[in-house]
Amino acid sequence: MPVLDILRYPDARLHKIAAPVTVFDQALKSLVQDLAETMYVAPGIGLAATQVDVHKAVIVVDVSERRDSLITLVNPEIVESSGLSDMEEGCLSVPGIYDTLERAERIKVRAFDQTGQAFTLQAQGLLSVCIQHEMDHLKGKVFVEYLSTLKQQRIRARLAKHLRKSA
Ligand code: NI
Repeated sequence: MPVLDILRYPDARLHKIAAPVTVFDQALKSLVQDLAETMYVAPGIGLAATQVDVHKAVIVVDVSERRDSLITLVNPEIVESSGLSDMEEGCLSVPGIYDTLERAERIKVRAFDQTGQAFTLQAQGLLSVCIQHEMDHLKGKVFVEYLSTLKQQRIRARLAKHLRKSA
């Protein structure tokens, strides 16, 4: 199983909108496996297919301490949300940058697993925030785009400097 390259903000491909999955085949299972492996190796608590330049509505998350509770969400859809949560977020596509965003505290998500089985998931706290963050990626949105223009400029400048250093 290959570990995939993760796109780095401000790569324009992070703004592509993911298409819904219509075929639940072996290729989808392989994608889910690769996403999970890439997330665990990174390491991160969530990864959207968008971040590896695959524009299909698939995300994987695991917010457990033991890294043994993988959740795969295909075509996720938030059907209920309530409350407000202020949590510091980071993103594998925006390394080294953390900031606090306001999100729903509790969500109810409808999705499919990789075999095409529909299910509903209730999430709160970190899992809720993580799912909302990853679902944003499927819509072409990176978390730093909720921040002020000034903060976004600073983040882009900082990431550009890092890129030059590592080049
Ligand atoms: Ni992210």
